Amino acid sequence: MTDHSSRPVVLVTGANGQLGWELRRHGQQLNYPLHALGRSALDITDAKAVHATIDSLRPSVIINAAAYTAVDRAEEEPERAYAVNRNGVANLARASLRCGAWLVHISTDFVFDGYKGAPYKPDDAPRPQGVYGASKLAGEVVVREIMADKALIIRTAWVYSAHGNNFVKTMLRLMGSRDELRVVEDQIGSPTWARGLADCIWRALGCRLAGTYHWTDAGAASWYDFAVAIQEEALSLGLLSKRLPLKPITTGEYPTPARRPSYSVLDKSATWRELKHVAPHWRESLRQMLGELAHA
Ligand SMILES: NC(=O)c1ccc[n+]([C@@H]2O[C@H](COP(=O)([O-])OP(=O)(O)OC[C@H]3O[C@@H](n4cnc5c(N)ncnc54)[C@H](OP(=O)(O)O)[C@@H]3O)[C@@H](O)[C@H]2O)c1
Repeated sequence: MTDHSSRPVVLVTGANGQLGWELRRHGQQLNYPLHALGRSALDITDAKAVHATIDSLRPSVIINAAAYTAVDRAEEEPERAYAVNRNGVANLARASLRCGAWLVHISTDFVFDGYKGAPYKPDDAPRPQGVYGASKLAGEVVVREIMADKALIIRTAWVYSAHGNNFVKTMLRLMGSRDELRVVEDQIGSPTWARGLADCIWRALGCRLAGTYHWTDAGAASWYDFAVAIQEEALSLGLLSKRLPLKPITTGEYPTPARRPSYSVLDKSATWRELKHVAPHWRESLRQMLGELAHA
């Protein structure tokens, strides 16, 4: 039988999302005593349920992977975005403080405006361009207000995984059904495999990292670069059978309800230093994730 006595009891919220799913997988492999609750088991906007669940499970670490992530829809329903991304996070922070748990909260590159032209450091001034980014920034603010130095906020970007909906899976679907694809080339960021992010979080848990840090895979790409790489890797793995013309377009040619930062690469140097662990290049992670899809 496994001895869990020296391991902290961990609660993961939003456990059926991309990150939540990878956290659960990783935590089980590491043999942590883990409670992984999806939205139906714990809705973080329900303050009473949050307090009751945390009082009964008594976790020493809470990892919040729950979020309202519909970036464009948030422009039409800001109250729903804030209900989850600010108020729900405040519920978790208050309950964490009350039971003495350490809170790990995930935020986004969309808290930045994208005009810096160089990788954003954790203490660069945030200036979100849309409701989603603003609601996530509001979540960061409540975590710092309530938890002070008893919490870790990790900002990440362009997350994908084999589980859930994301750019990689959308591209694979469209590449298998269209004759041509137009993809935005003037937004630059860092594609990030949720598995590597989950690994970063478990490492941070091991050394009780606190404060605000950044984690994405290494390197930078436009959505167009990312799509080209997805097609090349998918063709070589047999996930696609024919090459499709990909056309680079501007953001202006593909208008969306929410404005997105044109450059949102995050500076990860402090995280790499603290964790003594460097992220893989995004292309290497992509190859591994697609390899997993090919062998599923
Ligand atoms: N995806 C990205 O590109 C990206 C980029 C930067 C930062 N992030 C951040 O990374 C974190 C993880 O994102 P992800 O990609 O894993 O998102 P995701 O796949 O959309 O997962 C979010 C999960 O949260 C759940 N959820 C929503 N409202 C909830 C509530 N009130 N109570 C409990 N659970 C709730 C969702 O459940 P339902 O499916 O039932 O709604 C979903 O399972 C989030 O904080 C996100 O803001 C993501």
